[in-house]
Amino acid sequence: MATESQPAAMKRIQRIQMCDIVKRFPGVLANDKVCFDVNAGEVHALLGENGAGKSTLMRQLFGLYKPDEGEILIDGKPVVFHSPADAIRAGIGMIHQHFMLVPTLTVTENVALGLQSSRGPLLDLDKVEERVRQLSEGYGLKVDPDAYIWQLSVGEQQRVEILKALYRGAGMIILDEPTAVLTPQEVKDLFVTFKRMVAEGHGLVFISHKLYEVLAISNRITVLRNGQYAGECQTKDVTRDELATMMVGREIKRVAPPPQAPGRPLLEIKGLHAMGDRGVEALRGVDLEIRAGEILGMAGVSGNGQRELAGCLGGMRKVTAGTIVVDGKDLTHVSVQERLKAGQAFIPEERMRDGAIKDFSVQENLFLLDHASPKFSISSAWRSTPTR
Ligand SMILES: Nc1ncnc2c1ncn2[C@@H]1O[C@H](COP(=O)(O)OP(=O)(O)OP(=O)(O)O)[C@@H](O)[C@H]1O
Ligand SMILES: [Mg+2]
Repeated sequence: MATESQPAAMKRIQRIQMCDIVKRFPGVLANDKVCFDVNAGEVHALLGENGAGKSTLMRQLFGLYKPDEGEILIDGKPVVFHSPADAIRAGIGMIHQHFMLVPTLTVTENVALGLQSSRGPLLDLDKVEERVRQLSEGYGLKVDPDAYIWQLSVGEQQRVEILKALYRGAGMIILDEPTAVLTPQEVKDLFVTFKRMVAEGHGLVFISHKLYEVLAISNRITVLRNGQYAGECQTKDVTRDELATMMVGREIKRVAPPPQAPGRPLLEIKGLHAMGDRGVEALRGVDLEIRAGEILGMAGVSGNGQRELAGCLGGMRKVTAGTIVVDGKDLTHVSVQERLKAGQAFIPEERMRDGAIKDFSVQENLFLLDHASPKFSISSAWRSTPTR
């Protein structure tokens, strides 16, 4: 990519228009003559149910897909992007649903990745770091430039992605469901950042299917339904129920579930201790109990032991003291397989990294739960083979 490692000044774009965009995938019409536009200084929300075509539309604006039909105009001039590098050069940034950072590199190294240096093969990482610190302070994106990506929470990784886009001078930034992976407090912080970006003259596309968030932060809303444009409105003129109706195409009745009486204890955690990735004790005597019929919410700023607690519960992190009992069985030190057998399931924070193998089909991924079962495995035959 011909972008310099020197930070780019913001590439100001007044207006982007997408006109009559058509995008087909085998057997799916993902975008059916969709029109969309975004202006500098506004948050334009793109709302729609799963599979409505939101990501597909924005991937075309970012040069990841080419529209089958339709036109993209930047400040009135037609543009054709052959790759994201073209879009970045034009001043567009995109924060994807699943981040694209290198876990074994630091924050600064990730920002510098893909940039060309004015010092030939050598990167001026000190300069990059200095600018990362400036941007991080200026936009309220708190992150340690020297930390490795694998040490960061999902919220922190997202901030790195936004910093990368800002470093490259993105005037228009597309955020694909940025709040899906955040805690409520992190969402609040992200919205503060959005406000600063908009005040600086950035235009933002905020993809979401959370109505209350869209109503809280956007200036304008466009709704997609089944790949088609379902309408556009000013946020101040619309209600939550009207948006829900636009999204699904019929009126939605909200019914509260009946309250549940708590039953027997299903999860009992006593005096749990565990180390964190940075070599400091992350859990120091955690006690918890969850009963049947209960949902336990856990609040806290990221980096305060939530990830380590989840790791201990899932069987991926060593418990140094204390016990975990699930439905009467002590699972403190047992394998992941034993936990599955005991009826415990675990949905990790980073599902695409820790919960699924991307190159496998859905069927193959589902099978991973059973691969050790004698029905599907010849491991017992292997075990009986003498080893040298
Ligand atoms: N690369 C692809 N190949 C084939 N089909 C695709 C591809 N990307 C998306 N689709 C299909 O196009 C349709 C629109 O998908 P898209 O990901 O744009 O929806 P979305 O509105 O972003 O949904 P979500 O809220 O789940 O992210 C879906 O039916 C999806 O299965
Ligand atoms: Mg999507």
